[in-house]
Amino acid sequence: MKPVKIGFLGFGTVGQGAATVLTRNAAEISRRIGQDIVVKSASVRNLDRKLDPLLGEVELTQDSESIVNDPDIDVIVEVMGGDEPARTLLLAAIANGKHVVTANKALVACHGADIFEAAREHGVSVAFEAAVAGGIPVIKSIREGLAGNKIQWVAGIINGTCNYILTEMLQKGREFEDVLEEAKALGYAEADPTFDIEGIDAAHKLTILASIAFGVPLQFEAVHIEGISSITREDTAYAQELGYRIKHLGMAIDTGNGIELRVHPTLIPERRLIANVDGVMNAVLIQADAVGPTLYYGAGAGAEPTGSSVVADIMDVVRVATASVDNRVPTLAFQHDALIDTQSIKSADFQTSYYLRILAEDKPGVMAEISRVLADEAISIEAIVQKEPVDDSGKLPIVLLTKRIAEGSMNNAITKLESLSAIEGNVTRIRMETLAGS
Ligand code: HSE
Repeated sequence: MKPVKIGFLGFGTVGQGAATVLTRNAAEISRRIGQDIVVKSASVRNLDRKLDPLLGEVELTQDSESIVNDPDIDVIVEVMGGDEPARTLLLAAIANGKHVVTANKALVACHGADIFEAAREHGVSVAFEAAVAGGIPVIKSIREGLAGNKIQWVAGIINGTCNYILTEMLQKGREFEDVLEEAKALGYAEADPTFDIEGIDAAHKLTILASIAFGVPLQFEAVHIEGISSITREDTAYAQELGYRIKHLGMAIDTGNGIELRVHPTLIPERRLIANVDGVMNAVLIQADAVGPTLYYGAGAGAEPTGSSVVADIMDVVRVATASVDNRVPTLAFQHDALIDTQSIKSADFQTSYYLRILAEDKPGVMAEISRVLADEAISIEAIVQKEPVDDSGKLPIVLLTKRIAEGSMNNAITKLESLSAIEGNVTRIRMETLAGS
């Protein structure tokens, strides 16, 4: 049978990782799909780039359009990242009748609907396993393995850079900035690392997970997004003393009255498996009605782990290429005309518990003032600890854990707390989730 020819748009870490897996495991892959797969060409910025000899003869070009217009190429793999020219090139490839595999989470989260519609029109597949949690086959698991379930919520550590920074801060007492520099040097971070530390990368991934979990349209703009830049190493240590770990979590919850989509640092009880996912690793915990909780763990970034997902997608699109569009697994897990535009819940109505850190003067009555503000908003205190001073200012950190309350009430309480003369600076607020069921 004629080999399947692949053209890569971009050939950096992920592209070369995928090509390495394809080449090294060529015999195994051919035995699985009954066809050979050949990497024909790749577009790069720098033509002098030296490739690993294992990759054989890959034609390098600076002209991405020549790849999407090459009639000899069956599948386009887009690993260049960003909005443009990736979007235009993918649409051109689809119009030329080529299947498309992409690792581009921003593109799928923000332009997926247009790309999928174009693919339907032209009878080709779009696959994007590598866009979420790198090497973990979580999209396939939700779309196929959990297909019989009603999914109730998804909670994921889906940004390796944030997880690496929080882990180093806790385990080695390192400062945020110092660890971020290292994460950049190690190649974990996005080209623009604010995408990682401000939660945008995780929000792109959560948008995709929520859509395939609940059968709702991709809605990046509905995600409440917070990053980790306000977390201090003291917070990671205080949380640990109270029996929790701070993780940067993406959460999609079907509340029955709408869907909560949120990305933020979160205290998780340390006895949960997901609380012990450290370093650059990712994990996604899914609560579903029939199976209960399932946890998916693995490398969320890196050349061959992400390449592993790209290769599985290539094999999938080749395998189903001869099936009619209606007989393929739907791109967003549900039939495209069965997506339901369930309302997304506004952040003021989120229900969760909180960790608060307040820097207060060391004088009688301060604790009573804080308690009164919380009581006025019907916020119930679960635990309260006064810590040693962290500097010579004479101010003491007070750490509070609260019971579940609407976020709007907590916003009111924080505004009032910050206006008290005995309180210095901003109140640090970190949400807490039990993730019960895991
Ligand atoms: N910058 C991403 C991360 C890479 O840190 O998880 C994988 O998407």
